[in-house]
Amino acid sequence: MQATSTLLAPSILSADFTRLASSIEIAEKAGADWMHCDVMDGTFVPNITFGPLIVQAIASCTNMIIDTHLMIADPDRYIEDFVKAGSHQITVHQEACNHLHRTVQFIRSFGVKAGVSINPATPVSVLEAILCDLDLVLVMSVNPGFGGQKFIPSSIDKIRQLHSMRLQMNPDMVIAVDGGITEENAGSVVSAGADALIAGTAFFRASDPSAAAAGIKSITR
Ligand code: DX5
Ligand code: ZN
Repeated sequence: MQATSTLLAPSILSADFTRLASSIEIAEKAGADWMHCDVMDGTFVPNITFGPLIVQAIASCTNMIIDTHLMIADPDRYIEDFVKAGSHQITVHQEACNHLHRTVQFIRSFGVKAGVSINPATPVSVLEAILCDLDLVLVMSVNPGFGGQKFIPSSIDKIRQLHSMRLQMNPDMVIAVDGGITEENAGSVVSAGADALIAGTAFFRASDPSAAAAGIKSITR
């Protein structure tokens, strides 16, 4: 992997929902690469956010890549809806899928990128048999469900392990990290192997989101 700038994906969860369009514009003007959409169902995670209707509204006002993170049980039921809503990449949770390979193929059958996320308690080894089929792995560095939580330090080792696995098996696969990212810890997360950082609080609640974005994007490995 060569030294390229870090991809930044602001999480819309931390935006001001009364001003969704202007929050998206702030992210786009700040040079964000993806718009991260956190979909929660109140079953897989203890919180409920939004569904395809809001993802569609977000997609309609930006040219950024729509990165949909499905924190929902049995996600196959809704994948087509999120594709139609304008998602360019869809990430499901390993813990939420009974037939992960089938789900990944299903996502790819619509011509969108397929990602798999793992919770903090899930080892990266569970992805070994499927790594070659993935466009993206999303390492959760907090327990999913809420923005504004503290980064779990043991995530760094998992990112490192995953990075060495992908170098062997699927060098084009993107490693994204989600939860508790700050300008302070972003450097070590990228050094460990992350290509893309999801930032809710660190972007939307920053006093100067553009400066926060520039700081994160300037990190190289
Ligand atoms: C957590 C979500 C994250 C979260 C990130 O379940 O998947 O995307 O919103 O927010 P921060 O950056 O505040 O941890
Ligand atoms: Zn997320």
